[in-house]
Amino acid sequence: MREIENIVVLTGAGISAESGLATFRGQDGLWEGHRVEDVCTPRALARDPALVHAFYDARRAKLAEVEPNAAHYALARLDAQWPGGLLIVTQNVDDLHERAGAKRMLHMHGELKSALCAACGARRAWEEPMGDRPPCPSCEAKALRPDIVFFGEMPYEMERIDAALSRADLFVSIGTSGAVYPAAGFVQTARHYGAWALELNLEPSAGSYLFSETRTGPASKLVPEWVEEVLSR
Ligand code: APR
Repeated sequence: MREIENIVVLTGAGISAESGLATFRGQDGLWEGHRVEDVCTPRALARDPALVHAFYDARRAKLAEVEPNAAHYALARLDAQWPGGLLIVTQNVDDLHERAGAKRMLHMHGELKSALCAACGARRAWEEPMGDRPPCPSCEAKALRPDIVFFGEMPYEMERIDAALSRADLFVSIGTSGAVYPAAGFVQTARHYGAWALELNLEPSAGSYLFSETRTGPASKLVPEWVEEVLSR
């Protein structure tokens, strides 16, 4: 492995599972109760805003009941102590990375605690239920929606992510099934530019063969171990 200066970490629903938030796929996955095409698409929002808002309102309310776990805290420690470049890219819409203290991070699939106006594009912090399309505080159009990237929409901050992947010496994927692109392809981009790639997941994922190494187990154990390892290099 070459000298490590720049690290990119990708996280998915698996890192928040031990905090009590359901993952999407696999046993007890959120999608078992809801078909993804009923809740996570622009078309679903246009057809049945009350259903889409109720789904996200319930997920937003759930955030008040959960806490970051040892894996989120370990990444926050890495962020505070790693002297080189670091970017934590999360696919998660929960706020557990930031509540653990991580700063060098971004939400590529949006955030539950943010609202986006589909009419004027304004964004603002949002804690309350949305109910049935409240008016936008900026333009007053009844077009407020969760600031979440739906299937068929462009993930946020792709240019910044691509730039970080092209510079990465180490790419680490944590708690993601590798089922959803473009995030599932980050490992190939990072490796194309020469990064070493490590996967930390409960079980081997669909894309495990793309990684230099896969470690299986719960994130609350694997992530603190790996962070200690990289900080003591
Ligand atoms: N520790 C580590 N990994 C875990 C744990 C745990 N405690 N529990 C579950 N996992 C793993 C599962 O084995 C699975 O491979 O986490 C992965 C979660 O996969 P998904 O549920 O598919 O979640 P994710 O990869 O984040 O989904 C990607 O899909 O629905 C969209 O936009 C949504 O951001 C989401 C995207």
